[in-house]
Amino acid sequence: MITLLDLLRRTEAWLAQRGVPQPRLDAERLIATVLGTNRLQLYLMYDRPMADEELDALRPLVKRRGEREPIGWLMSTVGFHDIELAVHPGVLVPRPDTEALVEAVRAAIGPVPGPGEADPDARCFLADVGCGSGAIGLALAAADPRVRVFAIDLSDAAIACTKDNVARLGLADRVAVLKGPMLLPVPEARPIDWVVSNPPYIPSDDLLQLEPEVRDHEPRLALDGGPDGLAVYRALVPAARARARAGLAVEIGHDQGPAVRALFEAAGFVDLKVLGDLAGRDRVVIGRIPNPSSGS
Ligand SMILES: C[S@@+](CC[C@H](N)C(=O)[O-])C[C@H]1O[C@@H](n2cnc3c(N)ncnc32)[C@H](O)[C@@H]1O
Repeated sequence: MITLLDLLRRTEAWLAQRGVPQPRLDAERLIATVLGTNRLQLYLMYDRPMADEELDALRPLVKRRGEREPIGWLMSTVGFHDIELAVHPGVLVPRPDTEALVEAVRAAIGPVPGPGEADPDARCFLADVGCGSGAIGLALAAADPRVRVFAIDLSDAAIACTKDNVARLGLADRVAVLKGPMLLPVPEARPIDWVVSNPPYIPSDDLLQLEPEVRDHEPRLALDGGPDGLAVYRALVPAARARARAGLAVEIGHDQGPAVRALFEAAGFVDLKVLGDLAGRDRVVIGRIPNPSSGS
């Protein structure tokens, strides 16, 4: 008989031998996934004997993690902002850094009105370009009942994953999932207030230097921003300027603030801000469409 604690130690040692960066944490996450519980509950179950079926379910997950598949693909859900997302293989695992973009957009839209404070029919239409798992648009929709989302991606895996998460979170009446490039899938007649995006922004040559989870597994379409990392911003910023009624907010690499800000400026966005993440590195550029009546 093997207890949960024995299994945890063996799994940790096996993952450590394969160079997995946080072997204890990942061993806990995988065992918790198989047992259908959360990591913290495991501490109360150390003496629990493990059943053969549980060991059979764990083995392939541990093997895949040893091959450096992203941990988010092996867990049932990943926490992002205030929601839990399923992340299918082939889809970028949402990063905590991206929560800075969600918070910047929430601040720009303004606080959720209390009961009786505002027009109950108020709507804010967002286009999330490159939605991946749906992280940004779904976190914003879950946090604010005014928000309606067009979640857009080029990748079939991302579209399927976002649809799965829309259903899990019960947001189907406020989120449309659309396949195609940039803003093109949103019919011309449909209004868009804010465009939000965490586009691919890693310079192509830098991809080879990334950790194996990213370099060997996560999709290149989600990461590769062309020779200088800015290719998608060059197309997205003018496209958003032409369609959005309120503004554009994008995630950036830590050293891309000045270049992306310049693209916003050249397209005619105003009230530009470069905002930091929790570590204090530049992470978000946000700008507004000028108000025609004020001349700004
Ligand atoms: C860095 S990932 C971001 C995923 C998700 N928004 C997040 O923050 O976790 C970029 C996503 O953009 C998609 N993508 C890349 N080029 C695109 C394009 N031209 N139009 C729409 N989506 C694109 C990729 O398939 C990928 O899902």
